[in-house]
Amino acid sequence: MAFEYILTDAQVAPYVALIRLNRPKELNALNLQLMGEIRDALKAFDEDPAVRAIVITGNERAFAAGADIKQMAGKSAIDMLQIDQFSTWDAIRKTRKPIIAAVSGFALGGGCELCMLCDMIVASETAQFGQPEINIGVMPGAGGTQRLTRAVGKALAMEMVLSGRFISAEEARAAGLINKVVPVELYLDEAVKLASRVAEKSPIAVQLAKESVLKAFDMPLQEALYFERKNFYMLFATEDQKEGMEAFIEKRKAEFKGR
Ligand code: HXC
Repeated sequence: MAFEYILTDAQVAPYVALIRLNRPKELNALNLQLMGEIRDALKAFDEDPAVRAIVITGNERAFAAGADIKQMAGKSAIDMLQIDQFSTWDAIRKTRKPIIAAVSGFALGGGCELCMLCDMIVASETAQFGQPEINIGVMPGAGGTQRLTRAVGKALAMEMVLSGRFISAEEARAAGLINKVVPVELYLDEAVKLASRVAEKSPIAVQLAKESVLKAFDMPLQEALYFERKNFYMLFATEDQKEGMEAFIEKRKAEFKGR
């Protein structure tokens, strides 16, 4: 895969792939090409049986400082409609394998929204999360009013979206936005470690479990419970279920094959 604005590694650890946003001078501002490259890399990793979990990162100074303001500044509403950038975001959301964001520095606007599109977030102590679109006369457009509110609740989401205040990694952790805060030199290693733990499990069980958790956001409770139940039953059709349960009974480590 040849990309201009991202670097990829199909095996940063066994069964774990890495995508690194790579527009450092612009603090990884998310232009349309960069988002398209993330989508294409995720699709390729999603289809690769040698990948079971994916880590997305930026660099120490910035995960991403938002959508590319210079690219958006002169656009009309109809330009924005016709560009249809959110079909790219929708495609990213459809990734079946788990995605872990490894965040250091700025995760702002679209950068914060990209983190929230991931399944888990590991951050360095220096990370700052924010939805500062209000400072430039707009508002979040890629889930910032919805996923943030579901993650941290109305009071803090309103404050972040209406006042533009950034929150620290520790505040984000306490509010339930992210999983873990670690010293800056460890954030990527910790994210890869978490991805590796997930990658040891049955990939089919992981896929159906991820899909089921996400239904908590999309469906009323009773329907989502039925959905969960069907996925639970379906896993009894896998060899991995037999292996997992036999290994437990035989007091040995399970060898999952993704079948
Ligand atoms: C384009 C950006 C950018 C962005 C930073 N840069 N953020 N370019 N779009 N979102 C560029 C700067 O113009 C500058 O380029 C270089 O990166 C370094 O940034 P500085 O501002 O010099 O760095 P610093 O003083 O450390 O300030 C860091 C910062 C600030 C606080 C993160 O850059 C900032 O406020 N950025 C914008 C954050 C923001 O408003 N994000 C939301 C965007 S709207 P030059 O060429 O001058 O060196 C959005 C909507 C999403 O995300 C909708 C869905 C897709």
